[in-house]
Amino acid sequence: MSGTNSRLVADKIRAHHAAMVAQLSQSVSRVLDAVALANNWEPARQEVVAYIDQELLPHAVAEESTIYASARQFAPLRGLVASLIFEHVCLGRLRNALAVAQTGLEAVSLASAFSHLFDVHAQKEDQFVVQDLENRVDVDLAGILGSMRQLLSGAP
Ligand SMILES: [Fe+2]
Ligand SMILES: [Fe+2]
Repeated sequence: MSGTNSRLVADKIRAHHAAMVAQLSQSVSRVLDAVALANNWEPARQEVVAYIDQELLPHAVAEESTIYASARQFAPLRGLVASLIFEHVCLGRLRNALAVAQTGLEAVSLASAFSHLFDVHAQKEDQFVVQDLENRVDVDLAGILGSMRQLLSGAP
């Protein structure tokens, strides 16, 4: 794959991560605002959980069988990929706890924890996985992104 094309695809992946982090952060801040103003915080909590279910967890599942599968072929990246998959599990646990939070304080704490972990996780993917793969001539990053999109759109 050409260096320029690889860089463009890597930039698309990084931009998508940044967009998800920003949207999640805005959604989480609505939970904080509702609790701070002593308003009903449950609709804002539900909005965060819905965003996680509709966007973030499907993204995580799709990358495990595409970009992670590709990265795992390279021995120096194997431990990192294992740690990223573990973080997907941790994010899932935080989501489940958030979905049943009984108080506003608990919801704010769990939503913030999810948001910060997702942010760090996406930065790790950008800086240590995408960055590594984009510099390998034997990796088809455009094909990997295409497969991810196909999985997420439900296309065969
Ligand atoms: Fe991930
Ligand atoms: Fe990701």
